[in-house]
Amino acid sequence: MKFPTCLALFLLPCTLAAPALHPHTVPPLPDGMPNPDAEQLQQIQHRAHGSLPNSPLPSTISDKGITNLQLIAFNELFEVAFFNELLLNVTLNIPGYMILNKIDRAFAIETLTAILAQEEVHALTANNALKHFNKDPIEPCNYTFPVSTFQDAIALAATFTDVVLGTLQDVIVRFAANKDVELMRVIAATIGNEGEQQGWFRLLQDKIPSESPTLTTTDVNFAFTAVQNFILPGTCPNIKNINLKTFPGLHIVTTPGARTQKILVSFSVKDHNVPGELWLTYINQLNVPVVVPLEVVEVGKEDVVVAKALWPYDEHLLNGLTIAVVTGSGGPFGDVNAVEQATLFGPGLIILN
Ligand SMILES: *[C@@H]1O[C@H](CO)[C@@H](O)[C@H](O)[C@H]1NC(C)=O
Ligand SMILES: *[C@@H]1O[C@H](CO)[C@@H](O)[C@H](O)[C@H]1NC(C)=O
Repeated sequence: MKFPTCLALFLLPCTLAAPALHPHTVPPLPDGMPNPDAEQLQQIQHRAHGSLPNSPLPSTISDKGITNLQLIAFNELFEVAFFNELLLNVTLNIPGYMILNKIDRAFAIETLTAILAQEEVHALTANNALKHFNKDPIEPCNYTFPVSTFQDAIALAATFTDVVLGTLQDVIVRFAANKDVELMRVIAATIGNEGEQQGWFRLLQDKIPSESPTLTTTDVNFAFTAVQNFILPGTCPNIKNINLKTFPGLHIVTTPGARTQKILVSFSVKDHNVPGELWLTYINQLNVPVVVPLEVVEVGKEDVVVAKALWPYDEHLLNGLTIAVVTGSGGPFGDVNAVEQATLFGPGLIILN
């Protein structure tokens, strides 16, 4: 779908936009992303309330360090596309995105404008670092978002931001393990910014702003898989440069509550060899992964397996983000990276409270 001219020019008469006029994100954006010129970059930094870090980068980096930067760019470009579209939807009063209270609407637009520009700075920081190390910057894809209301968009933003907040922990650990120490500080600074955004997303859902004392960690391979849910297949120019795994998906069928219960999950085993015994492994906060047996309930059309497992909320206080994956081993697993090694399907994302 093409941008209607009025959108590209930010003209106001578009407020009466019919659904057919809804903004569909294809790069480059009107503000020049992903390759803003000097003037456009100044505007982005102005809207972001801050600049691209200009502290000098080290002269060398590990291969794993390059993968970290590529994943960050890949993820941030997806976020840029999302917040660009969300801001347009609110600004243009697209049905489902009308915020009736004038003060709330102005505040939402002001906030989303800053968040979009901050994500742009994050993406540019990672891509500039790749260029510094003589690697190709990551190029944006075409995206699609499974939401059509403001509330659903905010819930989705909270979900992927929770994943980012866990992923950047893993990035810091990988930088440290590969002696890329000079690159760690900017990640810590970015985690704080994403956490501030998350406080607002949570408040908008009538949740208290701070989620848990230590936020759920994850593995870069899970994040790489999760972002691909929002990509139109075949539209990422250089995703192949990113040396990470993509797992077949896991769908959480039963949304669990704040109590111990059985939940259903599903996954397609088409074209996959699956062992006879399976487990569902949960990663929550900074705790040792929790493993429970997975009981197959039925195998349906297209080899979709529906399976049942315990959600042991009461014993483990599984608040905030939980990452669920199907593993071919019952562990025990020392940490999230050990779980990743044994993962067959996932990640499924659960956020409670
Ligand atoms: C993806 O976006 C580009 C513009 O950047 C467009 O030319 C192309 O048709 C889009 N592809 C799909 C599959 O939507
Ligand atoms: C913007 O609105 C359109 C039309 O409802 C919708 O298809 C799209 O997913 C929305 N995007 C976001 C990020 O909310």
